[in-house]
Amino acid sequence: MNVIDLRSDTVTQPTSTMRQAMANAKVGDDVYGDDPSINLLESIAAETLGKQASLFVTSGTQANLLALLVHCQRGDEYIAGQLSHIYCEEGGGGAVLASIQPQPVDNEEDGTLCLDKIQSVIKDHDDFHFAKTNLLCLENTMYGKVLSLEYLHRTNTLAKSNKLHTHLDGARLFNAAVKLNCHARDITLYFDSVNVCLSKGLGAPVGSILAGTEDFIKQARRWRKVLGGGMRQAGIIAAAGLYALEKNISRLSIDHENAQTLSNKLSDIEELDVKTDWVQTNMVFFKTKNDNNAQLCDYLNKNGILVLNEPFIRLVTHLDFHESEIDTVVGAIKQWCVT
Ligand SMILES: Cc1ncc(COP(=O)(O)O)c(C=O)c1O
Repeated sequence: MNVIDLRSDTVTQPTSTMRQAMANAKVGDDVYGDDPSINLLESIAAETLGKQASLFVTSGTQANLLALLVHCQRGDEYIAGQLSHIYCEEGGGGAVLASIQPQPVDNEEDGTLCLDKIQSVIKDHDDFHFAKTNLLCLENTMYGKVLSLEYLHRTNTLAKSNKLHTHLDGARLFNAAVKLNCHARDITLYFDSVNVCLSKGLGAPVGSILAGTEDFIKQARRWRKVLGGGMRQAGIIAAAGLYALEKNISRLSIDHENAQTLSNKLSDIEELDVKTDWVQTNMVFFKTKNDNNAQLCDYLNKNGILVLNEPFIRLVTHLDFHESEIDTVVGAIKQWCVT
């Protein structure tokens, strides 16, 4: 059976040309700073993200955790969305490993955090009853939704007037930049640090980039070693990241178009409630009007169309999903709805 995997954009397979770049990579011991491919990736990524320096790390989770470790001390707290990945889906790493307390704030429907709500949870550092609020984390894209530059400007102003550091979980930052038709730097300028995943829409098999000031990255490099994330001849995987940054950013618009087409076609099916206004980049969310998402997911999965149900059914487009497969997916969903 030909499987169509729409669970996430993390499922992509490295292409043969990406594998070729990996095979040909010049490598060295990166713990000694000797890996030319990693050094090149870190300098290109820093430049692309408009930061002084960057660090190649194993995953988005590790990048976010390093940001917490560098920005915050034991007994500090960070503000993040109630639904954000850093708060909900990273095993509570900041609390588990560094005694950093999260202060969640409800996400609004559009993925933003309300500025008044952020302001209301910032604690007075001089009052020893409270953890010290030290960091504001935002996520962009958030469930495929893009935060506007104007919103980022306002949150940055609020954060700085309260002496907070700012971190962006930009696992899908380039999807946001492509959607806004701006440079990644136009987004990252509102943040002290940023995580970008190479292994999501960009199609690399492993790795994320954490970017910030020289001093921030120096400290993150130390923490990465403490976490066991110092890698040796990892230029082999950095080469895939370099390839991804060079070749796979502008094509993200294809994933966005495919998501839009999927959403348009699914919204013609009477039995479904499609979150059409959420479709801004590469994710489509919908549910069945009869509340039987689980049965539909089960049917799709058994028929080789892999999706997640969380609690909306989620379809994520990516470079291994082709326009020609849209009708197969829509047809299978229609078929289930009429039987
Ligand atoms: C928004 C967001 N941030 C961070 C991560 C963590 O990335 P990783 O799976 O590489 O740890 C993910 C993973 O899906 C994510 O979606």
